[in-house]
Amino acid sequence: MAGLKYQAPRGTFDVLPAAARTRGRIEETAAAIFARAGYEPISTPSFEDTELFERGVGHSTDIVRKEMFTFEDKGGRSLTLRPEGTAPICRAYVEHGMQQLAQPVKLSYRGPFFRHERPQAGRYRQFHQIGVEAIGTESPLADAEAIGLFAELVAELGVPGVELRLGSLGSLAARQAYLDELKAHLRANEGDLSKEVRERIDANPLRAFDSDDEGTQAAMASAPKLVERLEGEDAEHFEEVRALLDAAGVEYAIDPTLVRGLDYYTRTIFSFVCDRLGAQSEIGGGGRYDGLIEQLGGRPTPAVGWAAGIERIALALEEEEAPAGRDVFVATAGEERSRQALAMVLAGELRKAGLSAEVDLGGRGLKGQLKHADRIGARRVLILEEAGAAQLRDMKSGEQRPVDTDNLIAEITEGES
Ligand code: HAM
Repeated sequence: MAGLKYQAPRGTFDVLPAAARTRGRIEETAAAIFARAGYEPISTPSFEDTELFERGVGHSTDIVRKEMFTFEDKGGRSLTLRPEGTAPICRAYVEHGMQQLAQPVKLSYRGPFFRHERPQAGRYRQFHQIGVEAIGTESPLADAEAIGLFAELVAELGVPGVELRLGSLGSLAARQAYLDELKAHLRANEGDLSKEVRERIDANPLRAFDSDDEGTQAAMASAPKLVERLEGEDAEHFEEVRALLDAAGVEYAIDPTLVRGLDYYTRTIFSFVCDRLGAQSEIGGGGRYDGLIEQLGGRPTPAVGWAAGIERIALALEEEEAPAGRDVFVATAGEERSRQALAMVLAGELRKAGLSAEVDLGGRGLKGQLKHADRIGARRVLILEEAGAAQLRDMKSGEQRPVDTDNLIAEITEGES
């Protein structure tokens, strides 16, 4: 909107009340699912030492190379607005000695994250994630449970057109041999690759699978696939995760080209995509990160988790939640201070009894108040008249009857089911 002096910064947005209702439902549904499964809430700062993300997320990732909001504080320390939540939670796990607790430590979170990406539908510079992490277990059950919780969330919210893609990267040690093979394939096809992929053959060869460049895609069609090369415990772990998902009735498709934008993944990786979204079709994803805690200076600790984008889920739901409506609007016929005071007191009583109640704050006459009550979806209007008399009006039927304000709650609920 040209001409406005101040606008929300590029890539950010205001959440207006209609959108806030949908987001509230997403967050509350997720919080209830996490709580029922024993994933306790944790929250970490919005910014961290830059090095945490450089080491945790990985130097060769797009996030670290191009997308971090990094700044120096007044003491000359380099800080970064968190681009993701897993490295900070692992930092907290180590810092607070959580390895002393019964394992795994199951955590859930939600909050804002920041990436300096080119904004488009579903891609913002400040966005919000909900997520879970199960830290301190290698069990395939933890992978299956995490995935199952995501599936449950999608089902309970009613997100349409969602598909689960599943892959495995093997353990770090086993992956090395494969990566050498992949690099050799990339070198042999160097002429077909995009400049970006070519420049990162050594640093991050897996990302070639994720490129949208046509030449690169053609070269990758014949590339060796990691899922097909899994051996020993890696293969068993992946098989077990799949068997557990099958048993639980969670549908998935194996995707041999699945890769993710963070370096810390080992073994299981997964992605939930939604066909109602455009280019940014992933509503969430995650995987196992058995080496991350050690990488951050802790004891070797296997872990698994995921995060979902609240904005992407909201886009996929494509709904506007209707306003909640009001139980009672307390209107005054006349403007005397004493009557307005009574309206305020009665509204307070109604609220204490658990009903939603509003009074007119806009200085309207009685007619205007009734109109306003209708506009905000009030089911009843209590009209305060002369000398303590009052009427209760049912906004749907239009019926009106005298009520005793000393006995308000009983009067209001009387005869209603
Ligand atoms: P991620 O795949 O980078 O993973 O992000 C997870 C989700 O956040 C994405 O699937 C997407 O829905 C949302 N998202 C990411 N970037 C943006 C953006 N610029 N605008 C809007 N939404 C976005 C992680 O962040 C890992 N920490 C997930 C994880 C947890 N892995 C293990 N535990």
